[in-house]
Amino acid sequence: MVTLETPYAHRVRRFRFAMGTSTDFYIRLATPADALTVADLHTRSWQTAYRGIMSDAYLDQIAPTERREVWSRKLSADTPAERAVLLAEYEGCAQGFICVVADQDRRWGSFIDNLHMVPDRHGRGGGRQLLEAAAAWLIARGALRPVYLWVLEPNAGARAFYRRMGAVEAETGLRDTPEGLKVPGFRCVWDSPQALVAPVS
Ligand SMILES: CC(C)(COP(=O)(O)OP(=O)(O)OC[C@H]1O[C@@H](n2cnc3c(N)ncnc32)[C@H](O)[C@@H]1OP(=O)(O)O)[C@@H](O)C(=O)NCCC(=O)NCCS
Repeated sequence: MVTLETPYAHRVRRFRFAMGTSTDFYIRLATPADALTVADLHTRSWQTAYRGIMSDAYLDQIAPTERREVWSRKLSADTPAERAVLLAEYEGCAQGFICVVADQDRRWGSFIDNLHMVPDRHGRGGGRQLLEAAAAWLIARGALRPVYLWVLEPNAGARAFYRRMGAVEAETGLRDTPEGLKVPGFRCVWDSPQALVAPVS
């Protein structure tokens, strides 16, 4: 049985919700039946966040179909146990998702493969809640090594968000986009999943 909650995360969420600055998202594990929902969230997020980074032709004409193929495969019944996709829902509607792979890299630890909130829900605490839930999932399965992800250099908003969440930009590298472009990016790292559910001043 995996718990996606921590006592601390719950208190922070309640406080922000009471202050009117945050939405209390319901976070659950995605299943194969959610594949098209996740694909749609991913496409809509990319079409906003990656406009100008990926081509309009790719974002508008190719990404919708390609994301469906990708998530149908990734969320198939034989998904490896070390990967989890978590959905953030509000009033029964999916608003964002995160994909995490436990202990993916010997040095850098567990990998956050995707984190997206729909554009009209940014700044409502969903990104934080998904990261905390992914960290709780890692802790629950004993994956206590560092946590990392790659963020594209032009994605200034996401870089600011990860800094706010306590990540360190450990190194730079060129990242391949699905349409074969190379874009500079930063590897963002947390010492452990516990660092993601600890207070950030
Ligand atoms: C990046 C993203 C997941 C953040 O999620 P979010 O729900 O908007 O962020 P939250 O509301 O949880 O913000 C948590 C904290 O980060 C801060 N933050 C969020 N976005 C920020 C930004 N663009 N600039 C500065 N601070 C930011 C918030 O102010 C909040 O700070 P607080 O603790 O003082 O309240 C979301 O904006 C998104 O989906 N962006 C598009 C897709 C994307 O770029 N994903 C990352 C790919 S690597």
